[in-house]
Amino acid sequence: MNYNFDEIIDRKNTACLKWDYSKEFLGEDDVIPMWVADMDFKTPDFISDAIKKRANHEIYGYSARPEGYFTSIINWLDKKHHWKVEREWIIFSPGIVPAVNLAVLAFTQPGDEIIAQPPVYFPFFSAVKDHGRILAYNQLKLENGRLSMDFEDLEKKINTKTKMIIISNPHNPGGSAWTKAELTRLAEICIAKNVLILSDEIHSDLVFKPIHHTVTATLSKEIADRTITMIAPSKTFNLAGLSTSSVIISNPELRNAFKRSLENLHLGQGNIFGAVASEAAYSHGEEWLEQMMDYLKGNLAFIDDYLKRNIPGVKMITPEATYMVWLDFRDLNLKGKDLRDFVLKKAKLGLVDGSIFGPGGEGFQRMNIACPQSIIADAMHRLEHAIKNQL
Ligand SMILES: Cc1ncc(COP(=O)(O)O)c(C=O)c1O
Repeated sequence: MNYNFDEIIDRKNTACLKWDYSKEFLGEDDVIPMWVADMDFKTPDFISDAIKKRANHEIYGYSARPEGYFTSIINWLDKKHHWKVEREWIIFSPGIVPAVNLAVLAFTQPGDEIIAQPPVYFPFFSAVKDHGRILAYNQLKLENGRLSMDFEDLEKKINTKTKMIIISNPHNPGGSAWTKAELTRLAEICIAKNVLILSDEIHSDLVFKPIHHTVTATLSKEIADRTITMIAPSKTFNLAGLSTSSVIISNPELRNAFKRSLENLHLGQGNIFGAVASEAAYSHGEEWLEQMMDYLKGNLAFIDDYLKRNIPGVKMITPEATYMVWLDFRDLNLKGKDLRDFVLKKAKLGLVDGSIFGPGGEGFQRMNIACPQSIIADAMHRLEHAIKNQL
Protein backbone atom coordinates (compact mmCIF):
# COMPACT_ATOMS: atom_id res chain seq x y z
CA MET A 1 0.00 0.00 0.00
CA ASN A 2 1.30 3.42 -0.96
CA TYR A 3 0.07 6.33 1.12
CA ASN A 4 -0.20 9.79 -0.39
CA PHE A 5 1.32 12.45 1.84
CA ASP A 6 1.21 15.12 -0.89
CA GLU A 7 -2.58 15.40 -0.68
CA ILE A 8 -3.76 18.77 0.63
CA ILE A 9 -6.72 18.38 2.95
CA ASP A 10 -8.55 21.55 3.90
CA ARG A 11 -8.69 21.64 7.70
CA LYS A 12 -10.26 25.08 7.90
CA ASN A 13 -13.65 25.37 9.62
CA THR A 14 -13.20 22.12 11.50
CA ALA A 15 -12.41 23.87 14.83
CA CYS A 16 -8.82 22.91 14.08
CA LEU A 17 -6.46 24.63 16.48
CA LYS A 18 -3.70 25.03 13.93
CA TRP A 19 -5.75 26.29 10.96
CA ASP A 20 -8.69 28.05 12.63
CA TYR A 21 -7.12 29.68 15.68
CA SER A 22 -3.90 31.34 14.50
CA LYS A 23 -5.42 34.75 15.16
CA GLU A 24 -6.28 33.90 18.78
CA PHE A 25 -2.96 32.24 19.57
CA LEU A 26 -0.46 34.06 17.36
CA GLY A 27 -2.22 37.33 16.65
CA GLU A 28 -2.31 36.84 12.85
CA ASP A 29 -4.59 34.66 10.74
CA ASP A 30 -3.22 34.98 7.22
CA VAL A 31 -0.15 32.90 8.05
CA ILE A 32 0.84 29.38 7.00
CA PRO A 33 0.18 27.62 10.30
CA MET A 34 3.19 25.52 11.26
CA TRP A 35 2.90 25.87 15.02
CA VAL A 36 0.70 23.28 16.83
CA ALA A 37 2.41 19.87 16.84
CA ASP A 38 -0.04 17.85 14.79
CA MET A 39 0.09 16.65 11.19
CA ASP A 40 -1.80 17.81 8.12
CA PHE A 41 -1.80 14.23 6.76
CA LYS A 42 -4.93 12.14 6.38
CA THR A 43 -5.53 9.58 9.08
CA PRO A 44 -4.94 6.17 7.47
CA ASP A 45 -7.99 4.01 6.70
CA PHE A 46 -7.11 1.26 9.17
CA ILE A 47 -7.65 3.81 11.96
CA SER A 48 -10.66 5.65 10.49
CA ASP A 49 -12.36 2.33 9.67
CA ALA A 50 -11.95 1.10 13.24
CA ILE A 51 -13.46 4.35 14.56
CA LYS A 52 -16.35 4.20 12.07
CA LYS A 53 -17.04 0.57 12.91
CA ARG A 54 -17.35 1.44 16.60
CA ALA A 55 -19.39 4.56 15.79
CA ASN A 56 -21.88 2.44 13.85
CA HIS A 57 -22.87 0.68 17.06
CA GLU A 58 -24.49 3.93 18.14
CA ILE A 59 -24.31 3.48 21.90
CA TYR A 60 -21.37 5.29 23.48
CA GLY A 61 -21.84 4.65 27.19
CA TYR A 62 -19.18 4.08 29.86
CA SER A 63 -16.58 1.65 28.60
CA ALA A 64 -13.38 0.00 29.70
CA ARG A 65 -10.30 -0.49 27.58
CA PRO A 66 -10.31 -4.04 26.21
CA GLU A 67 -7.36 -6.44 26.51
CA GLY A 68 -6.54 -5.88 22.83
CA TYR A 69 -5.81 -2.25 23.63
CA PHE A 70 -3.11 -3.26 26.11
CA THR A 71 -1.75 -6.09 23.98
CA SER A 72 -1.29 -3.71 21.04
CA ILE A 73 0.78 -1.35 23.22
CA ILE A 74 2.87 -4.21 24.65
CA ASN A 75 3.55 -5.65 21.18
CA TRP A 76 4.40 -2.25 19.69
CA LEU A 77 6.88 -1.40 22.45
CA ASP A 78 8.51 -4.82 22.19
CA LYS A 79 8.82 -4.81 18.41
CA LYS A 80 9.67 -1.17 17.89
CA HIS A 81 11.72 -0.35 20.99
CA HIS A 82 12.76 -3.75 22.39
CA TRP A 83 11.03 -2.95 25.63
CA LYS A 84 9.23 -5.77 27.39
CA VAL A 85 6.37 -4.19 29.27
CA GLU A 86 3.97 -5.99 31.55
CA ARG A 87 0.25 -5.37 31.32
CA GLU A 88 -0.04 -4.03 34.87
CA TRP A 89 2.65 -1.39 34.31
CA ILE A 90 0.44 0.49 31.81
CA ILE A 91 -1.77 3.26 33.15
CA PHE A 92 -4.14 5.21 30.93
CA SER A 93 -3.88 8.99 30.89
CA PRO A 94 -5.99 11.42 28.85
CA GLY A 95 -2.79 13.13 27.71
CA ILE A 96 0.89 13.50 28.36
CA VAL A 97 0.65 17.04 29.71
CA PRO A 98 -2.02 15.96 32.23
CA ALA A 99 0.25 13.02 33.12
CA VAL A 100 3.26 15.30 33.69
CA ASN A 101 1.12 17.42 36.03
CA LEU A 102 -0.17 14.30 37.82
CA ALA A 103 3.38 13.01 38.26
CA VAL A 104 4.43 16.33 39.79
CA LEU A 105 1.52 16.04 42.25
CA ALA A 106 2.14 12.35 42.97
CA PHE A 107 5.88 12.41 43.56
CA THR A 108 6.76 15.86 44.89
CA GLN A 109 5.63 18.35 47.50
CA PRO A 110 5.23 22.14 47.29
CA GLY A 111 8.67 23.70 47.69
CA ASP A 112 10.49 20.74 46.08
CA GLU A 113 12.70 21.43 43.09
CA ILE A 114 12.16 19.90 39.67
CA ILE A 115 14.63 20.22 36.80
CA ALA A 116 13.80 20.79 33.13
CA GLN A 117 16.25 21.04 30.24
CA PRO A 118 15.50 24.13 28.17
CA PRO A 119 14.98 25.00 25.44
CA VAL A 120 12.21 22.43 25.91
CA TYR A 121 8.48 21.81 25.52
CA PHE A 122 7.18 24.68 27.66
CA PRO A 123 4.17 23.01 29.40
CA PHE A 124 6.84 21.30 31.55
CA PHE A 125 7.49 24.68 33.17
CA SER A 126 3.89 25.36 34.16
CA ALA A 127 3.44 21.76 35.35
CA VAL A 128 6.13 22.54 37.93
CA LYS A 129 5.35 26.14 38.81
CA ASP A 130 1.54 25.93 38.88
CA HIS A 131 1.72 23.43 41.73
CA GLY A 132 4.04 25.46 43.92
CA ARG A 133 7.16 23.46 43.03
CA ILE A 134 10.40 25.22 42.12
CA LEU A 135 11.63 25.02 38.54
CA ALA A 136 15.38 24.69 37.98
CA TYR A 137 16.98 24.83 34.54
CA ASN A 138 19.68 22.49 33.26
CA GLN A 139 20.12 24.26 29.93
CA LEU A 140 21.08 22.22 26.87
CA LYS A 141 24.17 23.19 24.86
CA LEU A 142 24.17 23.66 21.12
CA GLU A 143 27.30 21.76 20.06
CA ASN A 144 28.20 20.90 16.47
CA GLY A 145 24.67 21.63 15.27
CA ARG A 146 23.02 19.42 17.92
CA LEU A 147 21.45 20.15 21.29
CA SER A 148 23.33 18.14 23.93
CA MET A 149 22.99 17.67 27.66
CA ASP A 150 25.26 19.55 30.07
CA PHE A 151 26.05 17.00 32.80
CA GLU A 152 28.42 19.21 34.80
CA ASP A 153 25.68 21.79 35.08
CA LEU A 154 23.13 19.09 35.99
CA GLU A 155 25.27 17.92 38.90
CA LYS A 156 25.57 21.50 40.12
CA LYS A 157 21.82 22.13 39.82
CA ILE A 158 20.78 19.16 41.94
CA ASN A 159 20.49 19.92 45.65
CA THR A 160 18.73 18.32 48.61
CA LYS A 161 15.40 19.80 47.51
CA THR A 162 15.61 18.33 43.98
CA LYS A 163 13.15 15.47 43.56
CA MET A 164 12.66 15.03 39.83
CA ILE A 165 13.95 15.78 36.35
CA ILE A 166 11.61 15.99 33.34
CA ILE A 167 13.21 15.06 30.04
CA SER A 168 11.85 15.10 26.51
CA ASN A 169 13.21 11.90 24.94
CA PRO A 170 13.49 12.51 21.98
CA HIS A 171 13.75 16.22 22.40
CA ASN A 172 11.18 18.82 21.41
CA PRO A 173 12.06 21.37 19.99
CA GLY A 174 15.70 20.46 19.24
CA GLY A 175 15.11 17.04 17.69
CA SER A 176 17.93 15.27 19.59
CA ALA A 177 17.33 11.55 20.00
CA TRP A 178 19.18 11.01 23.27
CA THR A 179 21.77 8.26 23.00
CA LYS A 180 22.24 5.33 25.33
CA ALA A 181 25.40 6.98 26.65
CA GLU A 182 23.68 10.32 27.33
CA LEU A 183 20.70 8.73 29.06
CA THR A 184 22.93 6.43 31.10
CA ARG A 185 25.04 9.34 32.31
CA LEU A 186 21.93 11.33 33.21
CA ALA A 187 20.43 8.34 35.02
CA GLU A 188 23.63 7.66 36.95
CA ILE A 189 23.58 11.22 38.27
CA CYS A 190 19.90 10.80 39.21
CA ILE A 191 20.63 7.53 41.03
CA ALA A 192 23.53 9.06 42.95
CA LYS A 193 21.40 12.03 44.00
CA ASN A 194 18.10 10.17 44.44
CA VAL A 195 16.20 12.07 41.75
CA LEU A 196 13.22 10.60 39.86
CA ILE A 197 13.27 10.64 36.04
CA LEU A 198 10.13 11.60 34.18
CA SER A 199 10.81 10.53 30.62
CA ASP A 200 8.34 12.02 28.15
CA GLU A 201 8.70 9.70 25.14
CA ILE A 202 5.74 10.96 23.11
CA HIS A 203 8.06 11.46 20.10
CA SER A 204 9.80 8.08 20.44
CA ASP A 205 8.31 6.54 17.28
CA LEU A 206 9.41 9.50 15.18
CA VAL A 207 13.17 8.86 15.01
CA PHE A 208 14.87 9.06 11.63
CA LYS A 209 16.76 5.97 10.48
CA PRO A 210 19.46 4.81 11.06
CA ILE A 211 19.18 6.41 14.51
CA HIS A 212 17.26 4.46 17.15
CA HIS A 213 15.20 5.55 20.09
CA THR A 214 16.44 4.47 23.50
CA VAL A 215 13.73 3.97 26.11
CA THR A 216 15.22 5.40 29.31
CA ALA A 217 13.65 2.65 31.42
CA THR A 218 15.38 -0.11 29.40
CA LEU A 219 18.87 0.93 30.49
CA SER A 220 18.84 -1.11 33.72
CA LYS A 221 16.49 -2.34 36.42
CA GLU A 222 17.90 0.27 38.80
CA ILE A 223 17.11 3.04 36.29
CA ALA A 224 13.65 1.61 35.52
CA ASP A 225 12.92 1.65 39.26
CA ARG A 226 13.10 5.46 39.31
CA THR A 227 11.66 6.19 35.88
CA ILE A 228 8.15 7.18 34.87
CA THR A 229 7.72 6.80 31.10
CA MET A 230 5.06 8.52 29.03
CA ILE A 231 4.08 7.38 25.54
CA ALA A 232 1.15 7.93 23.18
CA PRO A 233 -0.05 7.21 19.66
CA SER A 234 -1.02 10.88 19.41
CA LYS A 235 2.09 12.29 17.69
CA THR A 236 3.00 9.08 15.85
CA PHE A 237 -0.39 8.64 14.19
CA ASN A 238 -1.85 12.14 14.53
CA LEU A 239 -4.49 11.26 17.09
CA ALA A 240 -4.03 14.15 19.53
CA GLY A 241 -7.74 15.03 19.37
CA LEU A 242 -8.60 11.63 20.82
CA SER A 243 -6.91 12.21 24.19
CA THR A 244 -5.39 8.78 24.74
CA SER A 245 -1.94 8.09 26.13
CA SER A 246 -0.10 5.82 28.54
CA VAL A 247 2.10 6.16 31.57
CA ILE A 248 4.31 3.13 32.12
CA ILE A 249 5.81 2.49 35.55
CA SER A 250 7.42 -0.81 36.51
CA ASN A 251 8.12 0.16 40.14
CA PRO A 252 4.89 -0.79 42.04
CA GLU A 253 5.34 1.88 44.70
CA LEU A 254 5.66 4.68 42.15
CA ARG A 255 2.89 3.15 40.05
CA ASN A 256 0.43 3.09 42.94
CA ALA A 257 1.25 6.67 43.87
CA PHE A 258 0.66 7.80 40.28
CA LYS A 259 -2.59 5.83 40.04
CA ARG A 260 -3.86 7.43 43.23
CA SER A 261 -3.21 10.89 41.85
CA LEU A 262 -5.03 9.99 38.58
CA GLU A 263 -7.95 8.36 40.38
CA ASN A 264 -8.35 11.19 42.89
CA LEU A 265 -9.15 13.45 39.97
CA HIS A 266 -11.27 10.82 38.16
CA LEU A 267 -9.24 11.14 34.98
CA GLY A 268 -8.94 7.42 34.19
CA GLN A 269 -12.10 6.93 32.14
CA GLY A 270 -10.90 8.08 28.72
CA ASN A 271 -13.03 7.81 25.60
CA ILE A 272 -14.18 4.93 23.44
CA PHE A 273 -12.79 6.27 20.17
CA GLY A 274 -9.35 6.94 21.60
CA ALA A 275 -9.07 3.34 22.74
CA VAL A 276 -10.26 1.98 19.38
CA ALA A 277 -7.93 4.26 17.39
CA SER A 278 -4.93 3.49 19.58
CA GLU A 279 -5.41 -0.26 19.21
CA ALA A 280 -5.81 0.01 15.43
CA ALA A 281 -2.77 2.29 15.12
CA TYR A 282 -0.42 0.13 17.17
CA SER A 283 -1.71 -3.07 15.54
CA HIS A 284 -1.53 -2.00 11.89
CA GLY A 285 0.49 1.22 11.76
CA GLU A 286 4.03 0.13 10.99
CA GLU A 287 3.95 0.46 7.21
CA TRP A 288 2.18 3.82 7.29
CA LEU A 289 4.70 5.11 9.83
CA GLU A 290 7.68 3.96 7.73
CA GLN A 291 6.33 5.81 4.70
CA MET A 292 5.45 8.89 6.74
CA MET A 293 8.98 9.05 8.16
CA ASP A 294 10.41 8.76 4.62
CA TYR A 295 8.18 11.62 3.56
CA LEU A 296 9.36 13.75 6.50
CA LYS A 297 12.95 12.97 5.51
CA GLY A 298 12.13 14.36 2.07
CA ASN A 299 10.73 17.52 3.68
CA LEU A 300 13.90 17.88 5.74
CA ALA A 301 16.12 17.47 2.70
CA PHE A 302 14.04 20.06 0.85
CA ILE A 303 14.37 22.62 3.66
CA ASP A 304 18.07 21.97 4.13
CA ASP A 305 18.77 22.44 0.44
CA TYR A 306 16.52 25.51 0.15
CA LEU A 307 18.05 27.28 3.14
CA LYS A 308 21.61 26.58 2.02
CA ARG A 309 20.97 27.78 -1.53
CA ASN A 310 18.65 30.72 -0.90
CA ILE A 311 18.50 31.73 2.77
CA PRO A 312 21.98 31.29 4.26
CA GLY A 313 21.03 33.58 7.20
CA VAL A 314 18.70 30.91 8.60
CA LYS A 315 20.16 27.56 9.64
CA MET A 316 18.42 24.30 10.37
CA ILE A 317 19.34 22.21 13.39
CA THR A 318 18.89 18.87 11.64
CA PRO A 319 16.54 16.81 13.80
CA GLU A 320 17.34 13.20 14.61
CA ALA A 321 13.69 12.79 15.60
CA THR A 322 10.30 14.55 15.68
CA TYR A 323 8.56 16.48 12.92
CA MET A 324 9.71 19.76 14.39
CA VAL A 325 12.54 21.74 12.92
CA TRP A 326 14.52 24.14 15.10
CA LEU A 327 15.56 27.05 12.94
CA ASP A 328 18.42 29.33 13.95
CA PHE A 329 17.61 32.94 12.98
CA ARG A 330 20.37 34.53 15.09
CA ASP A 331 22.39 35.70 12.07
CA LEU A 332 19.51 37.99 11.08
CA ASN A 333 20.25 40.09 14.18
CA LEU A 334 16.60 40.47 15.13
CA LYS A 335 15.80 40.25 18.81
CA GLY A 336 12.64 39.37 20.76
CA LYS A 337 9.51 41.03 19.38
CA ASP A 338 11.35 42.15 16.23
CA LEU A 339 12.02 38.54 15.23
CA ARG A 340 8.50 37.43 16.16
CA ASP A 341 6.95 40.27 14.14
CA PHE A 342 9.23 39.65 11.20
CA VAL A 343 8.27 35.97 10.97
CA LEU A 344 4.55 36.53 11.57
CA LYS A 345 3.88 39.83 9.83
CA LYS A 346 6.48 39.97 7.08
CA ALA A 347 7.10 36.32 6.21
CA LYS A 348 3.50 35.43 7.13
CA LEU A 349 4.54 32.22 8.83
CA GLY A 350 2.88 30.83 11.93
CA LEU A 351 5.94 29.33 13.67
CA VAL A 352 6.55 28.98 17.40
CA ASP A 353 8.88 31.61 18.79
CA GLY A 354 11.91 29.98 20.41
CA SER A 355 11.90 32.13 23.53
CA ILE A 356 8.76 30.37 24.77
CA PHE A 357 10.86 27.19 25.21
CA GLY A 358 12.96 28.92 27.89
CA PRO A 359 16.67 29.80 28.09
CA GLY A 360 18.51 28.96 24.89
CA GLY A 361 15.41 29.51 22.75
CA GLU A 362 15.94 33.18 21.96
CA GLY A 363 16.71 33.76 18.27
CA PHE A 364 15.20 30.42 17.19
CA GLN A 365 11.85 29.48 15.69
CA ARG A 366 10.20 26.05 15.62
CA MET A 367 8.61 24.92 12.37
CA ASN A 368 6.25 21.94 12.10
CA ILE A 369 7.09 20.04 8.90
CA ALA A 370 4.39 17.33 9.06
CA CYS A 371 2.55 18.66 6.02
CA PRO A 372 2.57 18.24 2.24
CA GLN A 373 5.85 19.42 0.70
CA SER A 374 4.04 22.04 -1.38
CA ILE A 375 3.19 23.85 1.89
CA ILE A 376 6.84 23.70 2.96
CA ALA A 377 7.86 25.11 -0.43
CA ASP A 378 5.38 27.98 -0.02
CA ALA A 379 6.78 28.68 3.47
CA MET A 380 10.36 28.71 2.19
CA HIS A 381 9.43 31.10 -0.65
CA ARG A 382 7.73 33.45 1.82
CA LEU A 383 10.73 33.41 4.12
CA GLU A 384 13.17 34.04 1.29
CA HIS A 385 11.05 36.87 -0.09
CA ALA A 386 10.69 38.52 3.32
CA ILE A 387 14.41 38.33 4.07
CA LYS A 388 15.41 39.65 0.66
CA ASN A 389 12.82 42.43 0.40
CA GLN A 390 11.56 43.39 3.80
CA LEU A 391 14.40 43.12 6.26
C1 LIG B 1 7.32 16.62 24.45
C2 LIG B 1 5.82 16.71 24.37
N1 LIG B 1 5.08 16.23 25.37
C3 LIG B 1 3.72 16.27 25.35
C4 LIG B 1 3.05 16.83 24.26
C5 LIG B 1 1.55 16.91 24.26
O1 LIG B 1 0.96 15.83 24.88
P1 LIG B 1 -0.61 15.74 25.10
O2 LIG B 1 -1.28 16.40 23.95
O3 LIG B 1 -0.86 14.27 25.16
O4 LIG B 1 -0.91 16.39 26.40
C6 LIG B 1 3.79 17.33 23.20
C7 LIG B 1 3.11 17.98 22.06
O5 LIG B 1 3.69 18.61 21.24
C8 LIG B 1 5.20 17.28 23.25
O6 LIG B 1 5.95 17.75 22.26
